Amino acid sequence: MTAERIVAGSADADDEPFETSLRPRRLGEYIGQNKVKDNLQIAITAAQQRNEPLDHVLLYGPPGLGKTTLANIIAAEMGVSVRTTSGPAIERPGDLAAILTNLQQDDVLFIDEVHRLARAVEEILYPAMEDWALDLVLGKGPGARSMRLALPRFTLIGATTRYAMMSPPLRDRFGSVYRLDFYDQDAITQIVERSARLLEVSVDEGGTTEIARRSRGTPRVANRLLKRVRDYAQVMADGAVTTEIAGEALSRLEIDALGLDEVDHKVLTTIIEKFNGGPVGLDTIAAAISEEADTIMDVYEPYLLQLGFLHRTPRGRVATKAAYEHLGIAPHGGASSGQPSLFN
Ligand code: ADE
Repeated sequence: MTAERIVAGSADADDEPFETSLRPRRLGEYIGQNKVKDNLQIAITAAQQRNEPLDHVLLYGPPGLGKTTLANIIAAEMGVSVRTTSGPAIERPGDLAAILTNLQQDDVLFIDEVHRLARAVEEILYPAMEDWALDLVLGKGPGARSMRLALPRFTLIGATTRYAMMSPPLRDRFGSVYRLDFYDQDAITQIVERSARLLEVSVDEGGTTEIARRSRGTPRVANRLLKRVRDYAQVMADGAVTTEIAGEALSRLEIDALGLDEVDHKVLTTIIEKFNGGPVGLDTIAAAISEEADTIMDVYEPYLLQLGFLHRTPRGRVATKAAYEHLGIAPHGGASSGQPSLFN
């Protein structure tokens, strides 16, 4: 994995075994997202008291914040098994019908990237979610008959980075919807401490703070940075992670003081230097830096928006004064056109 991808919230096959071992398994171990945790705990307890499956849950927010982890925790707390799949993996209605008919009573079905389900597949899901029923159409044309099969009761947990892209009928069928936010410094620091303990890495307070500060409020990034810093400390020093070692390791990976990497820098400098601060369309930015528009939107923009470095306007993206300041570019100075930049 290159430095370019180290802060990306998206999962790489590379971090699966690592991440799995660091993932909290129960709600009590899960750090941060307190509002979500409290509401989930109430819903779980209530469902258990009534001896019912939990209502369907939709989790949304930027990648790497723990949606998959939470889905697995919900299943563990409910004492049921989880069957995991994703929107693009379910190509035909029959694929989903096969999954649904194979569930055990009260199981969790976790569908990642649920906004990418095909419309025909979604339609199988509606009666399944509402009535635990599978509607089959037999034959074609005027002679077609429909038949309803009973399914086991189950809980659907959907996860998405794109709430707005979900079809309203699907959105409406989730009994609870939780938005995961970037973690605050305190929570990310606790996550780094916990992961360091599990990995048996010696990290002092300064080293922990340094990693947490550059983790862009994202546990997946925090765990990845910790792993890279651990490598550096092992090879270049005595294995102990101090402020200095963490700082050196992360600077070498071109991760700046706020956790921004080369791609974040390219996005901002392109807007500022090539497009005079914006507004400029996402596709234009993507073409200028040879990056997928979807990747910029899902992975990079949320944190730049949160930092207040970027604004989305109807006419495109605009770099803010804070972005110029962070990059050390003088307002108006970077643009070759000499036109005044837009600050808002
Ligand atoms: N590892 C990844 N996410 C976590 C979280 N929210 N709490 C504890 N450990 C984690």
